[in-house]
Amino acid sequence: MNAKKIAGEKATELITEGMVVGLGTGSTAFWAVEKLGELVKNGLNIKGIPTSKSTEKLAIEMNIPLISFSDVNHIDITIDGADEISPTLDLIKGGGGALLREKIVAFASKKFVVVADESKYVNELGSFPLPVEITPFGFEATIREIQKFKCQTKIRKLEKNEPFITDNGNYILDCYFESIEDSSFLNTQLNLIPGVVENGLFVNMADQVIIGYNDGDVKVLD
Ligand code: A5P
Repeated sequence: MNAKKIAGEKATELITEGMVVGLGTGSTAFWAVEKLGELVKNGLNIKGIPTSKSTEKLAIEMNIPLISFSDVNHIDITIDGADEISPTLDLIKGGGGALLREKIVAFASKKFVVVADESKYVNELGSFPLPVEITPFGFEATIREIQKFKCQTKIRKLEKNEPFITDNGNYILDCYFESIEDSSFLNTQLNLIPGVVENGLFVNMADQVIIGYNDGDVKVLD
């Protein structure tokens, strides 16, 4: 069974009439957005705030009405995926490069719900390389500062060896740590480096995690 689909669709049960909904990015959040499109088609009245240009495109295709931060001062709920989820519900996000918009939208949300398949639940964060969004200006100096946290780094590249450029015009630096023992400390310290725009650690942000299993089961953690 499609564990990502099970988790993504389950999360849409939390959406009610009139809500402003943060729309996540990636192959699991995709199923939530697609299901929301179906619910909208059947009469549900919601407004969406996408976390990336690709999700914006998908939401438009699904005829989900969109709204921007200039028109609302809060988001009722955001549904988004994750690359790793710890037992304390801290996350690594940004595998798709959308971490900055995802963090802004999640932070502005009353409720932040994470959807994932069972492979994403880990004992400790850090096997997945931590994505850090950095400015192209001075990136060499920024990388040297980040490497002081004892990680190996790689600028994310596209097939033709061109750097991957985020929706905000920045680079993604993938950081390979042996393990991340104190995600709260690392999150704060990385963001103090001037060329760092944001990093993929989402600490103390998730209110609920919905895990889909390959056998069709689904578990809700909060
Ligand atoms: C996008 O930048 C990411 O944060 C995704 O939410 C995350 O990578 C999970 O993606 P999948 O659901 O495709 O695994």
